[in-house]
Amino acid sequence: MVVSYIEGSPLFPEAFRRAMSHLASGVTIVTTSLNGSPVGMTATAVCSVSAKPPLLLISLTSGTRTASGVLESGTFVVHLLAQGGQQFAEQFAAPGDHFECVSYHCHEPSGAPVLEDVLGFFFCSVERSLEVADHILFVGRVLECEVKARGHDPLVYFDRAYRKVVPVLDAAVASLEPWGPPQDLGLPGWGLPV
Ligand SMILES: Cc1cc2nc3c(=O)[nH]c(=O)nc-3n(C[C@H](O)[C@H](O)[C@H](O)COP(=O)(O)O)c2cc1C
Repeated sequence: MVVSYIEGSPLFPEAFRRAMSHLASGVTIVTTSLNGSPVGMTATAVCSVSAKPPLLLISLTSGTRTASGVLESGTFVVHLLAQGGQQFAEQFAAPGDHFECVSYHCHEPSGAPVLEDVLGFFFCSVERSLEVADHILFVGRVLECEVKARGHDPLVYFDRAYRKVVPVLDAAVASLEPWGPPQDLGLPGWGLPV
């Protein structure tokens, strides 16, 4: 039996957390600088906002070193983690020195740390920020982006665990873009015109 939970009921907070844990997310590390030192955290609350202008959104817990650094510097870098980057994700989410044994260079002139061993990154300047509950939403304007490792799979977080992506179907169907011209690949809704 499927049970849905209503806000205000005692079991709702855990039901909400559990439901949100079923939203699969790419795993990122957001970095910036605070008082001249690199800071950063593992973050999955990241999404695109618009292509023109190129904007993305991150949601950071207020009072974290990373949120304080983004407020101070007005810039941040979102790094996409590749499959195998789980140890970075764990290190940047744990207490302690997040940059120990991590290769990076400093972005000029912002000084924001750009990590080396990642799938790609977006360098952003803060366009807007908004405090919501115990988080700060930062809308970043993407000033620079790069995919460093083409063909590598991303690290995904789902149901409180790190996961791999696996293609659903064969390569021809997997590359199907829903906004492209109609194609007959045997999928519902994609048959030949009647
Ligand atoms: C998979 C995963 C995703 C996370 N996503 C976020 C997030 O989107 N926003 C956030 O504020 N914290 C998130 N966290 C928690 C931060 O990584 C953690 O609080 C970090 O230690 C904060 O570092 P700081 O205080 O040095 O900035 C996440 C943790 C994990 C393990």
